[in-house]
This record gives sequence, C-alpha cells and structure tokens, in this order.
Amino acid sequence: MEVPSEENQMDSPKKCLRVILFPVPLQGHINPLIQLAGILYSRGFSISIIQFGFNSINPSTYPHFNFHSILPTLSETDANTGDVIAFALKLNCCCFSPFRECFSNILSDTSKGRIACLITDAAWYFTQAIADEYNIRRLAVRTTSICSFLAFAALPLLREKGYIPLEESRLEEPIPELTPCKIKDIHMIKSGNFEDIFRYVTNVVRGNRASSGLIWNTFEDLERAKIAEFSRESPAPVFPIGPFHKYCLASSSSLLEPDKSSLSWLEKQATNSVIYVSFGSLAVINEKEFQEIGWGLVNSKQPFLWVVRPGLVPGVQRLDRLLEGFLKVAGERGLVVKWAPQQAVLAHQATGGFWTHGGWNSTLESICEGVPMICQPAFGDQRVNTRYVSDVWRVGIHLENRIERGEIQRTIRRLMGSEEGEEMRGRIRSLKEKGEACLRPGGASYKSLDRLTDYISEI
Ligand code: UDX
Repeated sequence: MEVPSEENQMDSPKKCLRVILFPVPLQGHINPLIQLAGILYSRGFSISIIQFGFNSINPSTYPHFNFHSILPTLSETDANTGDVIAFALKLNCCCFSPFRECFSNILSDTSKGRIACLITDAAWYFTQAIADEYNIRRLAVRTTSICSFLAFAALPLLREKGYIPLEESRLEEPIPELTPCKIKDIHMIKSGNFEDIFRYVTNVVRGNRASSGLIWNTFEDLERAKIAEFSRESPAPVFPIGPFHKYCLASSSSLLEPDKSSLSWLEKQATNSVIYVSFGSLAVINEKEFQEIGWGLVNSKQPFLWVVRPGLVPGVQRLDRLLEGFLKVAGERGLVVKWAPQQAVLAHQATGGFWTHGGWNSTLESICEGVPMICQPAFGDQRVNTRYVSDVWRVGIHLENRIERGEIQRTIRRLMGSEEGEEMRGRIRSLKEKGEACLRPGGASYKSLDRLTDYISEI
C-alpha cells in the first residue's frame, strides 16, 4: 500500500481527524511507530508526532506530518546508563511535565483538526493519566511480538513459582507455563535490578489494561494462538495489523545514514549466497566475540555483509585494524558497513541468510522477505523471539553456545549449504506468503486495520 499524496489525503472524509503519536526514542521503537503513522495517514488521518530533542528523526523527511518536540531534563548519567529498565523508569517520570505541556498545546490548536486519539508506545505508561485528564483516548502500541510480551508480563508469576532468581544449574529446564521457553529465555531485560524490572512490568501491564486499545506489529498466521490468548485477557480491544513495514514505502526513519554501497555490492553476488549480519541498534559484543565473529565469517567462505555500527564493541580502539585483517583475507567476499538499508538488503535476491540478534523488527523483516536466520539473542524480547524462530516457526538456528569461530562456521554451513537450511527456507517463504495474504483485502491484518480505523474515527 502506498502512502497517498498530501493532496489526496486532504480529500479524505477523515481529514479533520488528528492522531498524535509518541514513540520511544530508540531505533527499534521509532521505526514501527513511524510506519504506523504512515499507515494511519494512508487511511485519511492527519498525523502529529511528539518526539525528543535527541534521537529524533528529521521532520523534513515527513513533510506531511506535524512534529513537536519535548526535552525532558536528564543528567548525563541517566542518559548514558546501560540499564534499559532504569532508563525507561526514569523517562516515565521526567517526561510527565514536558509531555503534558506539549500535549495541551497541541489540543488547544484546533486549526489542524479534532484529536481522535493519542497513540503511544506501550512503554509510555505515564501518558495514560494525561490522556484521562484531557478525556482523550489513548491506544498503546507494543513493538515486540505477542509471544515475548506474554513472557514479559508473566515475570511476576515466574518469580512466584520460583524460577526467579535464575539459577545457573536450571537454565536448560523448560517452563511449562510458557511452552516452549526454557528458564534461560527469561534473561529478559537488560537491567541489574530485578525490583526495577518488576516495577516496570507492572506499570506497563497496568497501562495496557487502562488503555483504549492495543495495536500489535504481528499477523494472524504467525501468532494466532498468542493473539487469541492475549485478546481473551485484554479488557481493551486488540488490533494485530502487522507487518507494519509492508504497508509503506521503504522506511526512512533511520537515525544513522544507511550505506547504499551494500546494494551495489549485493548486485555482484550470486542468488541466496550472502549471509547478512546485523545485531540491531542496541546490542553490544566484546572484542573477543568480535574477533570470533570476524574469523567465523571469513572461514565460512560464504560472502558476507556485516553491519559494524558505531558502539557495537564498546571501548575498543583498534576495531579498524581488526576489520582490515578480516577483509584482507576475505577480499571481495566481504563487505563491512556502519549501517545498512536493512529492508532492501533482506529483499535482495543475493541475501540468503540473516545472522541477527532476534530484535522483533529484524525478525519480522526477515520473515517478510523469506530469509532464514541464525539468531544470537542479547537481551529483552530477543530470547523469546529466538525460541519461536528456532522451535516453533522452525525458520532459523539458535546460536546457543559460546561465540566461537568453528561453531559459527558450522552454523553458517548448516543454514546456507544443507538440506536442513533449505527446509527452513521453504518454511519461511511460506510464512512470507501468509504475511502478504494477511495484508490483502479480506486478510486478517487488513480487516483488523479496518476495525482500528473505524474505532479511531468514532469520537
Ligand atoms: C530494540 C530491541 O532490542 C528489540 O529486541 C525490540 O524488539 C525493539 O527494540 P533493536 O535492538 O534495534 O530494537 O532491534 P530491531 O527490533 O531488530 O530493530 C532494528 C531496526 O533497525 C530494524 O527495523 C532494522 O531494519 C533497522 N536497521 C538495523 C537498519 O535499518 N540498518 C541496520 O544496519 C541495522
């Protein structure tokens, strides 16, 4: 589906209905929120986005949206904490006043149409009280899979049942309450403090339950049972309308400039021959892991396109020298970039496998292009996503053991050069087709989007 021109959009009967969106300022959250904004725009709503003074997208990329900025007061320590949960809790406190002021200003400007609703990332539970105060409906978008969300919401129960605190000796045990997950898949969130995690989970779940609706970037044929399970429990209506990125033209909400040379390099490679390697926008590795990955790729003899984004290996000065070493041996067979146009890379016929950290956007993007995966989860939802990729959908290999060049070489061969890998390719292609069918008129996501559009319009 293409985003209509502004002119066509203004002819729409909903032209005077405005939706305000508020993403979390992280790449993996900005992308789906901006894609959702594009989807709603194509359905005739006018769009306002509230973003931060940092990690923000350039408004000139989306001239048909209205942008507003807030700048919460954060100390340098708050902003640079490696603890995602401490950061999320902090932001939910310090954004309250600046967000409320900005929201109130938008509401008082009636020249751009009536406000239909506020749509925020589910992580912004603090916004519910503000929406209630102004009598505006708030819908929440969860940017992860439903299977991983259900595991996240079950954390208090898992603690009650004695799975938490985690014990090293029990990591391989299955969790019957969360089949097919194992105890090791509960290493869910990057935080040093379990009490913070429980406080955050409770707040997000409470915020979801108080919201007027939940929007999910997933589709029926992928997560049917989990969508049903979540919908049974949710007091608010549930709208699984994904995959978001397939409605719009390629996303340009990248915070880093994608290196287009990836695509010209892919043009020179044989069909399904390239292993694309990227660990998203947040995961980090250490120098030893970096070396093992580099030599594993080189020794696999498979052409590779590797994203080494700034900050991937914190604190290492001689990264360029190490990379030079790998590329000297790999020659034309390897390309390293700082940031890739990932959706286009995955859609390219030369890309035959994706070594990913299992972030939900990356997982969905791979499924939508029929590219089987090697998953090496780092934290958060990535472990549960990976469990589903390897054990339920069976479209990828879980790199479970330590990161070691021999293991990497064997895993790449399994994915790219074996019957088992071909079977995974067959299964993921079939999922890709089901995802496409969901978006066509009459498909589950299409119908869900119709429901959402009607629901938002009822003010
Ligand atoms: C984070 C979490 O880690 C993830 O688990 C959660 O589901 C969303 O928030 P991130 O780690 O960045 O996101 O991973 P992911 O969800 O995969 O999102 C990364 C996005 O960046 C994808 O949309 C991907 O297409 C894009 N990307 C990544 C690029 O455009 N170029 C790159 O080189 C790498």
